[in-house]
Amino acid sequence: MPTSVLIVCLGNICRSPMGEAVLKEVAKQRGLDVSVQSAGTAGYHVGEEPDERLLPKHNIPINHEAQQVGREDFRTFDYILGSDANNVRDLERLKPKDAKATVALWGSFDDGRPIADPYYGGIVSSPVPKL
Ligand code: 4NP
Repeated sequence: MPTSVLIVCLGNICRSPMGEAVLKEVAKQRGLDVSVQSAGTAGYHVGEEPDERLLPKHNIPINHEAQQVGREDFRTFDYILGSDANNVRDLERLKPKDAKATVALWGSFDDGRPIADPYYGGIVSSPVPKL
């Protein structure tokens, strides 16, 4: 069974679809058995495609339709990784008692830094995990 990872941000149209694409690409390059999806803590953009500013600069394909994280995800994924501290706080609140998922900051696998919400002027870039 692959290790399953859900990358999370607020809207699932900027940071987490990019994180999903980057982690998939890194796993492919390194031959890692990882399955990756992404979701938002909020549902405002469900069904939308990623923000057009994520169009591939680095030749990494991003094919995604925005979805919202749900309680069931905590029972199925091994890791649920928030892009910033608000995401992690919201995930901890939603997490059911019988969760199997480890909830953590996505950047804790890199430099420990959050990825700023791009709606507040942050630069969108994704950690490249050291797996
Ligand atoms: P994301 O960016 O969480 O990286 O997908 C955002 C997208 C939409 C909103 C906020 C952040 N919004 O408020 O609609």
